[in-house]
Amino acid sequence: SPPAIIAPSILSADFAQLGSECATTIERGADWLHVDIMDGHFVPNMTFGAPVVTKIRSHVAKPATPGGKGTFDCHMMIAEPQKWVSEFKSAGCDLYCFHYEAAISSTAAKDPANSSKTTAQTSPRELIRYIHESGMKAGIAIKPDTKVDVLWDILENEEEIERPDMVLVMTVHPGFGGQKFMASELPKVTALRQRYPDLNIEVDGGLGLGTIDQAADAGANVIVAGSAVFGAKDPAEVIAKLRETVEK
Ligand code: DX5
Ligand code: ZN
Repeated sequence: SPPAIIAPSILSADFAQLGSECATTIERGADWLHVDIMDGHFVPNMTFGAPVVTKIRSHVAKPATPGGKGTFDCHMMIAEPQKWVSEFKSAGCDLYCFHYEAAISSTAAKDPANSSKTTAQTSPRELIRYIHESGMKAGIAIKPDTKVDVLWDILENEEEIERPDMVLVMTVHPGFGGQKFMASELPKVTALRQRYPDLNIEVDGGLGLGTIDQAADAGANVIVAGSAVFGAKDPAEVIAKLRETVEK
């Protein structure tokens, strides 16, 4: 597997102190910051958008190389992810991870009577190309109800620019921190790792010291943890232990 990457989710940070929370989390040993963007539509919760990302970005040094320490890993739990690529690039997002489900849903498909109305829907491959052309890494996320098989065509296509840099396998239903880890999702990670030894595979939801072993065994190398890090007495110790487990 590629190197372990620990990406604390700032969803569980103190939103009134986000800038310093981000800086402190990096000092405590985090590699990336996982930034959950929710629109109250794709998921039943809202967080914040590009203007807030712009402000907190200035509290953390930009990664020396894309994907390096300080990477802003923006998990876009939003409808119409193609609409926000340039805004998030300008805000300082380094990795734009959209949901497969959001990229394939189209107004025309849901409402045949409306099919003449152009919705400017983008295919996952086109969206990955667009993210890359705008200068960010691209990630693609799948919810628990989505089969991993939908990703094979996207991962195997002959156009390198249309292949994702990371796959995010959700291990909870997206929307909230602090939910119970769904081990039922780990076979997706195993299947991805078998086919792609060098792919960044991220897991998100319910990860902590009690669940990291299973996720690491399945082959995940990018570990998101919100409540387990921000709710800990010693967040640095949790970050170090998560890393140790993935690396062993
Ligand atoms: C859930 C978010 C997660 C969340 C994880 O929709 O995508 O990133 O912050 O929180 P924990 O680690 O507490 O499950
Ligand atoms: Zn997330």
